Amino acid sequence: MPVTSSETSRIYELPDEAATLQIAANVFTHLPIGSLVYLRGNLGAGKTTFVRDYLRAAGVTGPVKSPTFTLVEEYVLPNLTLFHFDLYRLNDPEELEWLGIRDYLRPDTISFIEWPEHGAGHLPVPDLDIELRYQPQGRRAVIEAHTHRGRMIMKALTGH
Ligand SMILES: Nc1ncnc2c1ncn2[C@@H]1O[C@H](COP(=O)(O)OP(=O)(O)O)[C@@H](O)[C@H]1O
Ligand SMILES: [Mg+2]
Repeated sequence: MPVTSSETSRIYELPDEAATLQIAANVFTHLPIGSLVYLRGNLGAGKTTFVRDYLRAAGVTGPVKSPTFTLVEEYVLPNLTLFHFDLYRLNDPEELEWLGIRDYLRPDTISFIEWPEHGAGHLPVPDLDIELRYQPQGRRAVIEAHTHRGRMIMKALTGH
């Protein structure tokens, strides 16, 4: 259940991993093809776990590993291709141009990007910006919508 809720922002308490799985599955249900999602938060906050839970909800049963060293992992789902980026080790945001970032963020794909701060100036505005924060017990997710599509997703998440 969201703790606070507005058209562009929502906060969820995630006392345990089951709660993280629940919100990731909720996002999976409502995320249209073409969406871009930023995942922010300190090391160990749960960014990769969130993507893994999302992919489990999408039916992916194989390993979901952190793209810390590869920068990007690709998952081919029945209707779309999903890209999971981790830009932690990016030295310069300009490297995204060499990586051909625009070829990944197509209307027929969904992308999650961990550490988008490291790509500042070379990434489009995300539909959703999800920040995971440590709490005394578990985590807190602060979700913000930055586009029209993001606000539509947010509306769909209401009440869950
Ligand atoms: N809601 C939660 N409450 C407690 N622990 C969590 C929660 N969500 C994830 N975790 C744990 O926190 C860790 C997050 O690791 P990871 O997802 O690799 O972090 P990041 O990608 O942000 O560096 C994992 O050990 C995971 O089991
Ligand atoms: Mg990670």
